[in-house]
Amino acid sequence: MLIPVILSGGSGTRLWPLSRELYPKQLLPLVGKGTMLQETLARVSGVEDVTAPIVVCNESHRFLVAEQLLQAGVQPQAILLEPVGRNTAPAVAVAAMAALAQLPEDTQRGNDPLLLILPADHVIRDVAAFQAALAVGRAQAQQGRLVTFGVVPTQPETGYGYIRRGGGEGAGSDERPGSGGGPAFAEDLAAGKGLVSSQGSAFDIAEFVEKPDLATARGYLASGEYYWNSGMFMFRASKVLEELRALAPQIYQACTQAYTGACQDLDFTRLPAREFGACPSDSFDYAVMEKTAHGVVVPLDAGWSDVGSWSALHAAIPADAEGNVRLGDVLTADTSGCYLHSTSRLVATVGLQDHVVVETKDAVLVAPKARVQDVKELVNQLKKQD
Ligand code: GDD
Ligand code: MG
Repeated sequence: MLIPVILSGGSGTRLWPLSRELYPKQLLPLVGKGTMLQETLARVSGVEDVTAPIVVCNESHRFLVAEQLLQAGVQPQAILLEPVGRNTAPAVAVAAMAALAQLPEDTQRGNDPLLLILPADHVIRDVAAFQAALAVGRAQAQQGRLVTFGVVPTQPETGYGYIRRGGGEGAGSDERPGSGGGPAFAEDLAAGKGLVSSQGSAFDIAEFVEKPDLATARGYLASGEYYWNSGMFMFRASKVLEELRALAPQIYQACTQAYTGACQDLDFTRLPAREFGACPSDSFDYAVMEKTAHGVVVPLDAGWSDVGSWSALHAAIPADAEGNVRLGDVLTADTSGCYLHSTSRLVATVGLQDHVVVETKDAVLVAPKARVQDVKELVNQLKKQD
């Protein structure tokens, strides 16, 4: 049994002014026909043994989430409501507790469901390649490993975390080659095939590095040993709780208290504010994946992006002959390499190159594409004004 756990708690600040606190990017139809949440659910349909999902989101988004699930014809196992965001480690913890709580009592440890952790705000162009990587991950997770999916990088992106792989082509056996890998791995590297040749395998994790600077990221790409950290994981529910308990005991304790005190409200499971609020805030990557001795990375080469910024969104949508992405009522002359998005008025540009223009009813953003990471800064200023 494979339970998708959908993390839908982010606020997508870098996609302001379209993404707002009350209407974050995962609930918007940014790339496909459905919203990002709906596309995430659609991507796992047809996967072997897949069950209804568990969704973890902020309580303020509960009706939007429920409505979007209904629209997509998905009846979730649970919608867990966080009173406050505590990052991804607590979200994974309470989801694993919910998955185990619904099992018959005689279910053996080691035979309990696999969880597939999926952030609700990713774009994946090649669903078949994604599902093939899931099958590789499943074989590892069934043996008690904590699988992270590592994206074969295409550019020195500074908005992502990186994972350096160790040796262990097909880390399925306990007799793994040490760092540097076995002969097949060495041959691949010598042949300059690097990461791309490693499709279908799993590797030990040598190191995690969160959002490096540009020079460091360039070095990582050149080395051929690094993947982007996708933030997608697979493991048994019992195994991840065992690791949380050992490696992040405060999170484990606080989440146990919160989950025990949760109450059912319509279709929602509400986590209590006091107990969940007392939980330390940490990402699953830091709290568990960096520390566990049972982690493996499974390569993923499937046109993945987390569309974390306007330039990433530009790259994720096919552009016209001038390299422009035009959405809504847009008129251009001598304009190229731009992302132009209007929601309520005509947007017109003349002589504009490599810019982002996003128009909404109450706010308009204009920025060079190279500076879009700084939109976060604007949002911080807006928050201070509130
Ligand atoms: N339920 C819940 N609760 N979900 C959360 C919370 C929370 O408190 N915080 C974050 N999430 C979800 C977000 O919705 C998003 O889908 C995902 O977890 C990752 O959080 P982000 O805030 O978007 O992190 P990031 O983009 O800065 O960095 C992470 O993701 C990158 C890939 O997208 C890191 O894991 C990077 O290493 C990684 O490359
Ligand atoms: Mg993100």
